[in-house]
Amino acid sequence: MRTQVAIIGAGPAGLFLGHVLTRAGIDNVILERRDASRVLARIRAGVLEAGSADLLRKHGIGARMDAEGLPHDGFSLAFGGRRLRVDLRGLAGASVVVYGQTEITRDLMEARAASGARTVYGAEDVAIEGFEGDAPAVTWREGGVVRRIGCDYVCACDGFHGVGRASAPRATLREHGRAYPFGWLGVLVDAPPADHELLYARHERGFALCSMRSATRSRYYVQVPEGERAQDWSDARFFDELRRRLPDDVAERVTPAPSLEKSVAPLRSFVAEPMRFGRLFLAGDAAHIVPPTGAKGLNLALGDVHYLSEALIARIRDGDETGIDGYSAKALARVWRAERFSWRMTGLMHEFPDETPFERRMKDAEFAELEASRAARAALAENYVGAPL
Ligand code: APR
Ligand code: PHB
Repeated sequence: MRTQVAIIGAGPAGLFLGHVLTRAGIDNVILERRDASRVLARIRAGVLEAGSADLLRKHGIGARMDAEGLPHDGFSLAFGGRRLRVDLRGLAGASVVVYGQTEITRDLMEARAASGARTVYGAEDVAIEGFEGDAPAVTWREGGVVRRIGCDYVCACDGFHGVGRASAPRATLREHGRAYPFGWLGVLVDAPPADHELLYARHERGFALCSMRSATRSRYYVQVPEGERAQDWSDARFFDELRRRLPDDVAERVTPAPSLEKSVAPLRSFVAEPMRFGRLFLAGDAAHIVPPTGAKGLNLALGDVHYLSEALIARIRDGDETGIDGYSAKALARVWRAERFSWRMTGLMHEFPDETPFERRMKDAEFAELEASRAARAALAENYVGAPL
């Protein structure tokens, strides 16, 4: 077996990369460890930057997003009884689209099935060979049989725990990051959202977020201590805690309903450098993780794929290597900016177990500056709608 580009992982990064390459006439195979239903069962964030939405449209994958996604011109912060709306359109000239990552994954899976491009689900023990030379290959186990595919390039879009980064040479790979001493407990319910826009709330009991998937489906989160288990939270306990952390008028509009999904996600900031090792490239969560506070994870993955697909197309079609040589630096510049923003938003809006009175005052002052200064709000809005690609 042979292909031009072997892609590991069928999350949004791997599927979108496969989609763009297939449309450009470049043969590719996706190897995914799980089966498709497991991939689609993951509930993750749901805010697309304006540039991400445009990118999906440009590659012919935006129809359902445009029909069912919710354009949002702003969001609000609540901070110890005060409230501030961040007018994204007025301050940054753009809006975001609320459309679940699961739906994007589904749209990409359907487009891939229709294109006839090859995807192997249930690929176990994926291993990468020879990427430091000219003839890389990927091996895996499928129903007890070991298979091998030769290729020109390997793209690891296999998430934080994938084999791509783990295969990178230790002498070259640098890893930076921190874990936060808390997680987000998230609940998905079939009930109308409390508000028409997102609300991020800081409260002395911890952070809370009101988000949504549609006019009839809400997504809520509360900050919980590290190690907390979702099964220890009944729906009643969750909604009680959520409401205590929200401004009264919003709390009154929260409609408790039986949870369709409930899970705890740890919070982490992480960057691996570089994002290229010979003929092996990293994209998406395989290379970097942001805490979800800025809603950047999916957008960074799509941005990486934009740069990487252009670079591979230029190399494979025209023999032009400048794109693949510049990929890592170009992607990382954007990644570090989003890392800083997500880290700062997380710091501002969460209760840290070891927070000193001084640090608390600094956060009060930061919020006061956002209230007082249009320039400060504009900087926040610019980051939230995302840097241009
Ligand atoms: N072999 C094959 N597939 C693997 C392996 C492996 N060794 N390890 C992981 N995978 C698969 C996972 O099962 C998953 O389907 O790779 C895929 C990685 O997908 P994601 O974790 O969704 O990562 P990515 O596509 O980069 O998407 C980034 O996901 O975590 C969120 O916030 C993040 O929204 C962002 C998005
Ligand atoms: C979500 O809807 O899941 C969501 C929205 C905004 C975030 C994080 C998650 O910042």
